[in-house]
Amino acid sequence: MIKLVDLSRTVLMGGVPLTVLHPLTLEIPKGQFVAVMGPSGSGKSTLLGLMAGLDRPSSGEVRINGAALTEMNEDQLARFRGANIGFVFQSYHLIPTLTAKENVQVPMEIMRLGAAPRRAGELLEQVGLSQRAAHYPAQLSGGEQQRVAIARAFACRPPVLLADEPTGNLDSQTGETIIALLRRMHREEGATMILVTHDPGIAKAAERIVNLLDGRIDGDRLVEHPQQKAAG
Ligand SMILES: Nc1ncnc2c1ncn2[C@@H]1O[C@H](COP(=O)(O)OP(=O)(O)OP(=O)(O)O)[C@@H](O)[C@H]1O
Ligand SMILES: [Mg+2]
Repeated sequence: MIKLVDLSRTVLMGGVPLTVLHPLTLEIPKGQFVAVMGPSGSGKSTLLGLMAGLDRPSSGEVRINGAALTEMNEDQLARFRGANIGFVFQSYHLIPTLTAKENVQVPMEIMRLGAAPRRAGELLEQVGLSQRAAHYPAQLSGGEQQRVAIARAFACRPPVLLADEPTGNLDSQTGETIIALLRRMHREEGATMILVTHDPGIAKAAERIVNLLDGRIDGDRLVEHPQQKAAG
């Protein structure tokens, strides 16, 4: 479970404090798929950065499965992230000098997990890129690079997956493929998933939609999925 308590972030802009995230409290149960929506500048990436422990809050705390990120030092945070959090960015962030398969292996090698090449192969198969394992990022399309990035994010079986506009650079059809893939991986790996998106159609795939406006929560609702319910 992810628990945010009175979490806020204030930055200095030319010496003047600017609150980009007002104190917010939010609980996300284990395994939930949450979409975060809101206009540009509303604080979505700030919120994700705080949840990932990539940025430090000005107040409050972030707890993931009981562990307080806000009490960890940089080394502890890096280790915690490696074992617990997968991150997918809008601009893929693959290492250009490594092949697709090597990119997927990197987090497993850092975490010293065994069988990295085998799991990387399986993950590339899951994202439909077995034939591209030996290709470098520059030889792949945007959608293919994002699929490699998703395989990499799931490599260490993180209990939490954070995705910041993973379809922002893709055409809508490729975007839909990516979201379908994220949903399937979410289902199969059982991760708690938080996805930032501007696209209401994509947000509807989530179980819950949290809206941000000017650094505050401006809506928080569950999404009904009638077909899934009917299917049991
Ligand atoms: N380190 C910083 N210094 C100054 N301003 C910052 C900093 N980080 C964030 N901001 C400001 O905080 C606000 C929220 O930024 P954030 O990146 O979280 O928005 P966002 O909702 O992700 O927007 P977008 O949809 O455009 O990605 C913006 O006005 C941004 O300029
Ligand atoms: Mg953003």
